[in-house]
Amino acid sequence: MKTLQILMVFMGLIMVNVLLATDVDALLKQMSLEEKVGQMTQVTLQVVSDQAATPTQPFKLNPDKLAEAITKYHVGSLLNVYDLAFTPEQWQELITSIQDIATKQTRLGIPVIYGVDAIHGANYTKGATLFPQSIAMAATFNPAFSKKEGEIAALEIRACGIPWNFNPVLGMGRNPLWSRLWETYGEDVYLTSEMGKAYVKGQEGDQNTVSDPVRVASCMKHYLGYSFPLSGKDRTPAWIPERMLREIFLPPFAAAVEAGTHTVMVNSSEINGIPVHADPFALITLLREELAFKGVVVSDWRDILNLHDREHIADSPKEAVRMAVMAGIDMSMVPYDYSFYNDLLALVKEGKVPESRIDEAVRRILQLKADLGLFENPYPEKSLMKQFASSEAVETSLEAARQAITLLKNTDGILPLKKNAKILVTGPNANMLSVLNGGWTYTWQGNLEEVYPQEKMTVLEAVEEKAGKGNVTFIPGTEFDKEVDIAAAVNALKQSDYAIVCLGELPYCETPGNIDDLRLPEAQYKLVEQLATLNKPIILVMIEGRPRLITRISELADGILLAYLPGPEGGRAIADIIFGDVNPSGKLPITYPKSANDFKCYDHKFSEITPPNRYEPLFPFGYGLSYTNYTYSDLKVDKEQVKKGEEIKITITVKNTGNVAGREVILLYLSDLFRSVTPPVRQLKRFQDVTLKPGESKTVEFVLKTHDLSFIGIDNKRITEPGEFVISVADLMQKFNLVD
Ligand code: BGC
Repeated sequence: MKTLQILMVFMGLIMVNVLLATDVDALLKQMSLEEKVGQMTQVTLQVVSDQAATPTQPFKLNPDKLAEAITKYHVGSLLNVYDLAFTPEQWQELITSIQDIATKQTRLGIPVIYGVDAIHGANYTKGATLFPQSIAMAATFNPAFSKKEGEIAALEIRACGIPWNFNPVLGMGRNPLWSRLWETYGEDVYLTSEMGKAYVKGQEGDQNTVSDPVRVASCMKHYLGYSFPLSGKDRTPAWIPERMLREIFLPPFAAAVEAGTHTVMVNSSEINGIPVHADPFALITLLREELAFKGVVVSDWRDILNLHDREHIADSPKEAVRMAVMAGIDMSMVPYDYSFYNDLLALVKEGKVPESRIDEAVRRILQLKADLGLFENPYPEKSLMKQFASSEAVETSLEAARQAITLLKNTDGILPLKKNAKILVTGPNANMLSVLNGGWTYTWQGNLEEVYPQEKMTVLEAVEEKAGKGNVTFIPGTEFDKEVDIAAAVNALKQSDYAIVCLGELPYCETPGNIDDLRLPEAQYKLVEQLATLNKPIILVMIEGRPRLITRISELADGILLAYLPGPEGGRAIADIIFGDVNPSGKLPITYPKSANDFKCYDHKFSEITPPNRYEPLFPFGYGLSYTNYTYSDLKVDKEQVKKGEEIKITITVKNTGNVAGREVILLYLSDLFRSVTPPVRQLKRFQDVTLKPGESKTVEFVLKTHDLSFIGIDNKRITEPGEFVISVADLMQKFNLVD
């Protein structure tokens, strides 16, 4: 008996030695071609399941199919939920079953890496802390929230046993029609880069020590240019010249690589006629050679097969596999079958894909697993459940929503409302939780209202809590696209002092969210128009993932709040602002268009504002009001002549000249007046928030470097040119010269 025990300890040590070995190369050498190709294969949970979870039926795993996936096809990765969020315990059980097979029933015991989309908190886990969606996070202009969100989401998915998160989204949100605009940080390159970097550090840790059990591997996506379909329809062609690609679309990814992100997911669509899944320029030249990215490149959903079926550049699915793997894809999110495994195996055997390319991809995948500490412990960190959805985490989400919500109009200081006022709450989005959250919430589309936690508050419930139920009347008025009882709403307004009208969108994401028209359905406009006939003050609350046109009704509203998709605490945050318990400080991370065919961004070219052209959206990028007033003064640049390589120090003083305390986000823009490639009129270069009591003032210093003055030149290389520059903050300006 004793000998057996000693032998087991000894065997254990040998095993631990193998598994602990971050000597990935040694492990790679022991692997068969089948085992390697399996590592590059990622299938969705559905493949190994009997039944999806629904509100009325439990999810059912199929142990035989799971064993087949891992022992026969050697799959290295699984992903996604099927189809409804699991409890942490269900996740833990699932991941344990997977890792038991991977580590105990396979020759080499290589753990599986499981990945999910936790894009606003652990949105596929019941009870997790959910956050405002990224477009709202961007409106806070507060990367500290992005970092916190990354941290909390990491802990909560790790507690479930999931070490890989397909986020952040670093596409530039520059086409307001696009159904994934709200997954972006908006239209500005610098803001997106700052929010993205902070998120990566939150997920991975300041030193990217992802083996730390509270960290996960982040996945910057969707590389590159996915967010800019010409038609505005998801997964349709983008046309982006190389200069623009480098100037606008690449920098946030470069920033995330610099922040150490471990993985990247590829643009599902095409740029300039080349699907990115088959584009060595994007995946090798730019990503590997220029950005020096060392991590794993994963395809997006079914996108290797799409090279054949949808994009028509590969004449067979097998050729699609060859093209994608040779272009630099390391792992295929196949996700429904083993076609990738079979085709890639055959391609290597036929000599059409060199085994060295397979080794390169598998080495990266194994390294990722090693970095995550999966060889030491592939199982859920159940002890983290003590910190799961802590009250501090929920408070962070609430605070982020409060800082995001943007006051766009406040005629005669109509807001904040008095708590004893008689209020009509109306509109399709007033009494729903799903609309506050949007897609990727409990389900992919986020539209199963009945699965939302009832303890969270809708706008109506939060307003009732503040103002007292007796003071609030609720009449929906309309559904999203049809009238319900507009006349009743108008009647109710006769007995009320104000109408809070909550308009906007129902949840959606990806291709199902495609629209042909940025206007809202007629019924929603009509509701406001009919209410306005009474001449009582109307507060419009827009709850939406993209800026649906409100030009037709904006003049009828005295107050307009843009809530974006503020997350589960959004109802409370909106009520806090409506009643003045919170002073709004969000600023627009996008341009809010006025007209259906004028989608120019704030960093347009001079010709776009040369009369009769103009930048006159309904609300410009960076716009956002407060319940107090701020005065900016003393904008100073420390030198008039700046030599290349020198830092430029800029100071500005901001004073709260109103009656309430507030947080003000200072935005610093730079304009390069003349250069060899037409300059944008201005670009955001720095931002910083300050909190100020009434009468208080603060001076803030910003430091710019030569890099901030650079641009992509005629040769598509980053350059700086001497000349005149203007710094602008609020309505103040200062010039300086860059000299050789
Ligand atoms: C989306 C990705 C997502 C993936 C896995 C795709 O349809 O484009 O953003 O990460 O599915 O769920």
